[in-house]
Amino acid sequence: HKLFAPRNHTAGLDWSHDPDLRHFLELNDESRNHAFIAMPMIGHGLPELYEHRIALNPADSRLNIGLVNDAGLEDIEKALTCAAETSWDNCSTQARADLLEKTADIFSARRIELMSILISEAGKSLPNAQNEVLEAIDFCRYYAQEARLQWQDESPTPLGLVVTISPWNFPLAIFVGQIACALIGGNRVIAKPAPETPLVAALAIRCFYEAGISRQILQFIPGGAAAGAALVLDRRCNGVLFTGSHHSALRIATEINQSGQVKPLITETSSVNCMIADSTAHIDHVCKDVLTSAFDSAGQRCSALRVLFLQEEIASSTIERIKLAMAELNIGNPFLLASDIGPVINEPAQRKIIAAIQQYHHCPIYQTPLPHEIHHGSYIAPTLIELSDNDSLPEEIFGPVLFVKRFKIQHLKEVVHNINLQKSGLTLGIHSRLQSTRDYIIQNTKVGNYYINRSQIGAIVGCQPFGGTGKAGSGPKVGGPWSIWAACQNTDPCKAH
Ligand code: NAD
Ligand code: ALA
Repeated sequence: HKLFAPRNHTAGLDWSHDPDLRHFLELNDESRNHAFIAMPMIGHGLPELYEHRIALNPADSRLNIGLVNDAGLEDIEKALTCAAETSWDNCSTQARADLLEKTADIFSARRIELMSILISEAGKSLPNAQNEVLEAIDFCRYYAQEARLQWQDESPTPLGLVVTISPWNFPLAIFVGQIACALIGGNRVIAKPAPETPLVAALAIRCFYEAGISRQILQFIPGGAAAGAALVLDRRCNGVLFTGSHHSALRIATEINQSGQVKPLITETSSVNCMIADSTAHIDHVCKDVLTSAFDSAGQRCSALRVLFLQEEIASSTIERIKLAMAELNIGNPFLLASDIGPVINEPAQRKIIAAIQQYHHCPIYQTPLPHEIHHGSYIAPTLIELSDNDSLPEEIFGPVLFVKRFKIQHLKEVVHNINLQKSGLTLGIHSRLQSTRDYIIQNTKVGNYYINRSQIGAIVGCQPFGGTGKAGSGPKVGGPWSIWAACQNTDPCKAH
């Protein structure tokens, strides 16, 4: 009986003819890698840079892109005290929605700066950086519209102080989406970005302030796991919105539990996502969708394809075609439009992925050849590993690594069983022209987002609510009509989700 907000979104908007973007692309690396700055932004008092570390560009570790002042325990205490003393109860849903929409306009106006940091701090390719800015805009506009419609008569009760904890792989979109979700519900927010990507997060916070959101209502605490733990375990924190690895989510849940507290903890975490392609699949489409799903963003998406199950009859020819297509991928400087894939987030991640690949030395492996000129960056060659019948499903490797397994159609039940054994499901791709096969797989698996005969990444805010089941997620899907209830006390609508 409810009327939901219209699914307006910016997906497909093309900024490539934007003169500002063209000008930006003509600059050289030195002028693009400005000295960006991130430091705690706490209610009272102006931010000051006291003890900093240098942020480096993952595409070229010789390039210094900015300074980061991580928060100390004193900053965290100040932020918690300030949040506990602040209220914005007198700000209506409509007024909060106005503020989010204004923030979206500011993101749009400052898109080139945001994209520039996304590329130089997180190694995002140009199209990925553009899409991420658009997604951040979408989160603000969509949550504003949804709240205007659903809460026009009465707003729900906010949780109070919500701590948001985000990952580095969507350092703008997820960071902003969590904040927008908590703010629209009338909460005060302390936002902690991932330690790898505080620079773009700091600029996003300045955009919220420029729109009129007060420094007491929204505070910024750059730092790592220890800063996050200090925030979520404090008794003044009334709820947590977390996105990151399953391991960190479990640790946070355990620590909250051990501290004797009960508070809402919404987690969006990891999963080993699969795709099943049967012999009726259109092989050209499978190859294109596999390449996008496994290697876009250098495989650093929670939604990315990790294991491709190919029916025996099409397996060899499909694998050969995927390899041919992999050979054509351009790996390189993410500032160049010609680059399909940039670096992974940093050198430790690069080493971890290489070590994980080496574990499979007993399997046939194919890797895209890497060009010579990229040795100063943390690049990983897109990799295809053929698993045998005896190999079990891998853990999540957060990089451009695709596993392939063959199956006989009479063993489809086992494939489905293996997928279910993981007890976590974020995305599942199905390539089949048989309705009966698609129905069988959907009815017998439990996954957040199904993608049929298409790629399995890039859920669109407001159109394709996104989130996992089981170990992969505990809240209402983000970018959907129930998300705005995630940080509210009256959560009945979430149960309907
Ligand atoms: P991570 O778990 O290492 O870190 C995520 C955030 O949690 C960071 O801000 C980190 O500082 C913080 N953190 C870690 N331990 C903490 C603790 N004990 N207390 C408080 N905060 C703590 O994840 P990551 O490496 O930044 O991101 C990649 C992971 O995130 C992948 O596993 C990916 O699948 C997952 N992810 C999931 C989604 C989703 O929507 N389901 C989206 C993006 C990324
Ligand atoms: N929402 C992101 C995607 O769908 C993670 O790829």
